[in-house]
Amino acid sequence: MADEKSSLVSGFYKLSIDDRRAFVKHFAALSGEESALFTSALDLPTADRMIENVIGTFELPLGLAVNFRINNKDYLIPMATEESSVVAAASNGAKMARVHGGFSTSSTPPLMTGQIQLLQLRDAAGAAQEIISRKQDILRLANEQDKILTDLGGGAKDLEVRILDSPLGTMLVVHLLVDVRDAMGANAVNTMCEAVAPVLAELADGKARLRILTNLADRRIVTATATFDTKTIGGDAVVDAFLESYMLAAIDPYRAATHNKGIMNGIDAVIIATGNDFRAIEAGAHAYAARTGCYTSLTSYEQDEEGNLVGTIELPMAVGIVGGAANMHPKARLCRRILGISSAAELGAVAGSVGLAQNFAALLALSTVGIQKGHMSLHAKNIAVMAGAQGAEIDLLADKLVAEGKIKLDRAKILLEEIRRR
Ligand code: MEV
Repeated sequence: MADEKSSLVSGFYKLSIDDRRAFVKHFAALSGEESALFTSALDLPTADRMIENVIGTFELPLGLAVNFRINNKDYLIPMATEESSVVAAASNGAKMARVHGGFSTSSTPPLMTGQIQLLQLRDAAGAAQEIISRKQDILRLANEQDKILTDLGGGAKDLEVRILDSPLGTMLVVHLLVDVRDAMGANAVNTMCEAVAPVLAELADGKARLRILTNLADRRIVTATATFDTKTIGGDAVVDAFLESYMLAAIDPYRAATHNKGIMNGIDAVIIATGNDFRAIEAGAHAYAARTGCYTSLTSYEQDEEGNLVGTIELPMAVGIVGGAANMHPKARLCRRILGISSAAELGAVAGSVGLAQNFAALLALSTVGIQKGHMSLHAKNIAVMAGAQGAEIDLLADKLVAEGKIKLDRAKILLEEIRRR
């Protein structure tokens, strides 16, 4: 059926929280029970099953990024973050990407890599050959550990052996490549690694030590691209300024770290909202950014024939929609319903697109007015609320504070009194 829902909304931030909830309820066709989850916190018995020594729960603001169109489908994107401007910047980047159709993505099959470290070897090269020659047996043993995964078409698909020199002598590292389907995959991969390790040690005539997946999930990659229209973003001079700004992230790790941090502002917020492991995503992203030996940008930009800016992001995306917190946390389930995603790959496509939108919006601001302008107006709104402003007073007072260039609580209180006297 043709997709008729539009995520393009202007002034979403001006709506009341109830109106925003009503909008998303309609967009995602949420039931009354589902939309009740907006307010209900994670219940303590569930929290107690998730981690140890539970004493409570910890809340973050949950916002909704609007305007996203990804692979010709509109999305409202839940984002959990403590940082102001992130949701607004993502929505703004997505709005500009829409002019040329939004984001297009591609992803590799969901292959995670498990590592088994083998040491104290008499003949490392011979051990490597022995393991390769028994590949099918090892894969079979790995797959016996997870019938559900293999029934779904996933499971251990391949094996590679690396020989590494170290101060402790030569080591073999066996990589088990596992198709984890719609799971993040850590449990499945770690179980398989532990199961095959003794056999590998015997074949190698050595000892097995580490048996754990790598978060450098470089076989599970998402790529997202979008074209940003020159006129929409402010003309040729802005495009030139943008490319100059981007170039520093491409060549300098000091800038690349901040540039990628901005990308992860968006990606982490989606990852957290959907109950996924943001540390795994962070580790994978930064290790991937350093894969050439020089830490660099996760995005790249160039001009197309018409002079528009074409942005691309590429990074590992180890996310799941089954298992773990993604299933246990009621709000993570709600967020997945709002996204309307049906696979881990689709969630990865959304997260990658958010990363690109976030980075584009940050670079556009940094190359032109700077980011403080937007931050200051949000800061002014917070100060206005702290001063006691309510309803329409908030914007009125915030505008006055920004216009005066003095965003201070004592001044805000005086200005609020003046507004009320009038
Ligand atoms: C702040 O959280 C993120 C930025 O520093 C990203 C960037 O510099 O590209 C604005």
